[in-house]
Amino acid sequence: MKITVVYGQVHKKNTYKVTQLLLNHLECSKEDIIELNINDIPPCCGCTQCINKAEYLCPHYEQITSIITAIDDADVIVLASPNYCMGMTGQMKSFCDHMAYRWMSHRPVDMRSKIGVAISTTAGIGASKTTKQIAEQMIWWSIGRVYQIPFTVGAFSMENVKPKRMGKLNNKISKLAKTINRKVGRSKPCFKTKFYFGIMSMMHKGMPWNQIETDYWKEKGWIK
Ligand SMILES: Cc1cc2nc3c(=O)[nH]c(=O)nc-3n(C[C@H](O)[C@H](O)[C@H](O)COP(=O)(O)O)c2cc1C
Repeated sequence: MKITVVYGQVHKKNTYKVTQLLLNHLECSKEDIIELNINDIPPCCGCTQCINKAEYLCPHYEQITSIITAIDDADVIVLASPNYCMGMTGQMKSFCDHMAYRWMSHRPVDMRSKIGVAISTTAGIGASKTTKQIAEQMIWWSIGRVYQIPFTVGAFSMENVKPKRMGKLNNKISKLAKTINRKVGRSKPCFKTKFYFGIMSMMHKGMPWNQIETDYWKEKGWIK
């Protein structure tokens, strides 16, 4: 199994540590794991060239293309971000904005057999809100199954988490890892991905608004 992890932060604190717990439980060698951070990616400048014409016209194409290639090569994609003000970090959102052209509403690369995992930690509240936001992005990229690991640290550092709560987190993660180990390579898309894909195929067929996208969907054989 090939895993690509994209971190919405550079430091190796709470969110990183929770992510490592998952990686330790997944059945793959260290060489099959790529861990990337996205701090150097500038914010999307809103030129819409990627959506309206071609992704390589993005002024930040060179910075994002290696990350996107790593995502395309992976069976499991992990997006991890701490909760900052009830949402993912600005860096993670910036990266997701650069993926807009690959939403199912535009030109998705077929990820329906891939597995996604959204991870977030928070001091008090907001971890689930953040994993939901991240999971929604991955669903729109067409990832077939997206799991979420939200964790409330209840402090600023994981070291202060009581052993009993750490035990519960470990159990939850090991259970999820077992599911992923079992499903990898034969994962079927969930209802939400299938539903969005179906609606988007009707949209691209019935009310095309961008010929490039309609042509793309036809070329992929998703619409006639
Ligand atoms: C800019 C910023 C905003 C934050 N916003 C929240 C918040 O809205 N709610 C909360 O409970 N914790 C908040 N926190 C705390 C972090 O979510 C929490 O400490 C998290 O575990 C940090 O993960 P990390 O160690 O991977 O950076 C915030 C921290 C920072 C630096």
